[in-house]
Amino acid sequence: MYRSHNCGELNASNINTEVTLAGWVQNSNDKGFINWVNLRDRYGITQLLFDKSRSDEKIFELAKTLGREFVIQVKGTVIEREAKNKNIPTGDIEILVTELNILNAAITPPFTIEDKTDGGEDIRMKYRYLDIRRNPVKNSLLFRHKVAMEVRKYLSDLDFCEVETPYLIKSTPEGARDFVVPSRMNEGQFYALPQSPQTFKQLLMVGGMDKYFQIVKCFRDEDLRADRQPEFTQIDCEMAFVEQEDILNVFEGLTRHLLKEIKGIEVEKFPRITYDYAMKTYGNDKPDIRFGMEFGELNEFAQHKDFPVFNAAELVVGIAVPGAGNYTRKEIDALIDWVKRPQVGASGMVYVKCNEDGTFKSSVDKFYDQEDLTNWAKTTGAKAGDMIFVLSGPANKTRAQLSALRMELATRLGLRNPEVFAPLWVVDFPLLELDEESGRYHAMHHPFTSPKPEDMALLETEPGKVRANAYDMVLNGNEIGGGSIRIHDKATQQLMFKYLGFTEEEAKAQFGFLMDAFQFGAPPHGGLAFGLDRLVAILGGQETIRDFIAFPKNNSGRDVMIDAPAAIDDNQLKELHIKVDLV
Ligand code: AMO
Repeated sequence: MYRSHNCGELNASNINTEVTLAGWVQNSNDKGFINWVNLRDRYGITQLLFDKSRSDEKIFELAKTLGREFVIQVKGTVIEREAKNKNIPTGDIEILVTELNILNAAITPPFTIEDKTDGGEDIRMKYRYLDIRRNPVKNSLLFRHKVAMEVRKYLSDLDFCEVETPYLIKSTPEGARDFVVPSRMNEGQFYALPQSPQTFKQLLMVGGMDKYFQIVKCFRDEDLRADRQPEFTQIDCEMAFVEQEDILNVFEGLTRHLLKEIKGIEVEKFPRITYDYAMKTYGNDKPDIRFGMEFGELNEFAQHKDFPVFNAAELVVGIAVPGAGNYTRKEIDALIDWVKRPQVGASGMVYVKCNEDGTFKSSVDKFYDQEDLTNWAKTTGAKAGDMIFVLSGPANKTRAQLSALRMELATRLGLRNPEVFAPLWVVDFPLLELDEESGRYHAMHHPFTSPKPEDMALLETEPGKVRANAYDMVLNGNEIGGGSIRIHDKATQQLMFKYLGFTEEEAKAQFGFLMDAFQFGAPPHGGLAFGLDRLVAILGGQETIRDFIAFPKNNSGRDVMIDAPAAIDDNQLKELHIKVDLV
């Protein structure tokens, strides 16, 4: 038996018990005649005592050789500590060691295994197994496990069945590039790793599985950001014989359950807003509604005066920033520079100070009188002491720019409290999105999403106006899930592929299997997928998903620990029928 107890569970009630512990040496405090060693495992830290006057001499000497991260086993007696440590659960006791076994020596780790380590990101990623020994990373993994267990419990209790779907599949067009895997047995042919199990879960509905879920890895070869990894995990769900309302209710229930069980927070029914409203009000389809600063459209009060910039703009739009009326000229200039950075792209910014006495002072006083500015304040909801910032230009671009400013200011003003949770649904997404480069429409969600029946007629005339039965769940400014009611008949699916620019042959070659299945009695169905990594990170009060993934990739998509991706040898390439011409 390696251990009778773990390093986090002994306390005063165990005094005089003989115990066996195993773990890692956190550190030693050797005073010559007395030597304290902190022993650590996943559960905590227990202090070991080696005392020249009470310990066996050999053991006492051996203890002096222990280095950081040595793996040891000790036997001993639990005794009361003289100097108690109130900060840890085992702080009242220590172990007077009677037997010491070095199970494995260790070289000095490249960074300290402590909550506040001296190791930078790169070195911690290279030695991720050492990083995992640290509380913050270990606790994130335990937290993730807890969330995943709650999801499984909740969905199982509702009769959802977890079904595994294959990882070696054919590409599904969901926006990102595929990772591909060459087939040795089929020369010149490739599998693709799934971007999501979308078509398989729909086939499970045709198969009568009626309520499916899967906690599943998905793979997307896209540029990485704090909330994106090339392999990530979805809580993928699908239901048959449902309408949008059923899906929203079930998965709102799941999210509410998680907030209650994991965070102890009860939330009201989730607000639902349309995509159009989200874009007009927040300039963003995943709005953070923990704070206001809603957009006020000012065309009516800002155009047809003598300010040529606003007159020429498609949209003039502003936000009222609470309490920012006292910003100095220098602070305002810095913000103007901030919106003019290429990442945001505004050409300039107008500001209006809302004075405490009800008057206004703006950067465009030459063109607008107090009455005009009063209307601006009304429209943006500005109060005395606030500052109104106004941008103008092409509608979509300007909204995106003001949204970036809104988020930045909210962060600076401390309005994005990670312990406040504001979930919502965004519904009625457009079915199609115009790709400005190619001039072609593509599916905003994916090609299996059904149009709203009442908008079908617009497909021919104004495809950009057709709304879909598609929805996203948004939490604190992050898209944590998205889905749709699907097309479930062959004719509509064929039509959709036609609108998306597929020839009949292309559609058949890529998705013949799905359309064939629809002919054999496909039930109406729909679903959604949550991003588990994102959900866990946000519940954990963070936005970087990497910290909640055991072995994540870095920003160049590399695993620096195992050094992947890597070249493979010529024989392997040959077997796979791959010729590489390195230029
Ligand atoms: P979608 O593409 O919206 O939908 O993905 C669902 C959720 O997965 C998360 N997500 C990611 N998380 C981390 N890294 C990534 N690279 C990444 N990409 C997406 C997001 C997102 O909301 N098959 C559909 C779902 C459906 O229609 O049922 C799908 O995959 O949180």
